[in-house]
Amino acid sequence: MSTTKAVIPGSFDPITYGHIDIIDRSADRFDELHICVLKNSSKAGTFSIEERIELIKESVKHLDNVTVHHFNGLLVDFCDELGAQTIIRGLRAVSDFEYELRLTSMNKKLNSDVETMYMMTSTNYSFISSSVVKEVAAYKANVSDFVPVHVEKALNKKFRK
Ligand code: PNS
Repeated sequence: MSTTKAVIPGSFDPITYGHIDIIDRSADRFDELHICVLKNSSKAGTFSIEERIELIKESVKHLDNVTVHHFNGLLVDFCDELGAQTIIRGLRAVSDFEYELRLTSMNKKLNSDVETMYMMTSTNYSFISSSVVKEVAAYKANVSDFVPVHVEKALNKKFRK
């Protein structure tokens, strides 16, 4: 039987419980899950790629079929290099839909062998995004409901709490 592989791409700046929810649930359904930190050209970036990778690795250390990568190029090229034909994305609300449709349609155009599958984010996390968490953390509010403790520490350090 062949190995099932899926890629969870994103900017993860930083990883939140919303991402971890999708990762945990996907890890149950694929033999190998590959998390890939990529550049989103419309986002400036708060954490360095190395910092993001470290925060992700710490967050997924309980999952033995998950690997964390960084790729400096197109997502479909990463999938190609890895031999993966499934991308998993989380969908929080209707407001995500247009952006996700653009992303998926472009990826499909670039490589029609790669299929994107969407998973609804658990309702507890449906309002969480990295940007909102950073905004709240920058005002020195408590973000422990939205990110694991090591990410909270990294946010506090970044914003000098
Ligand atoms: O977490 P994000 O910021 O919504 O993730 C978006 C990301 C990084 C997956 C997307 O911007 C991406 O795939 N970037 C790599 C470049 C690419 O493949 N672009 C073509 C699709 S528009």
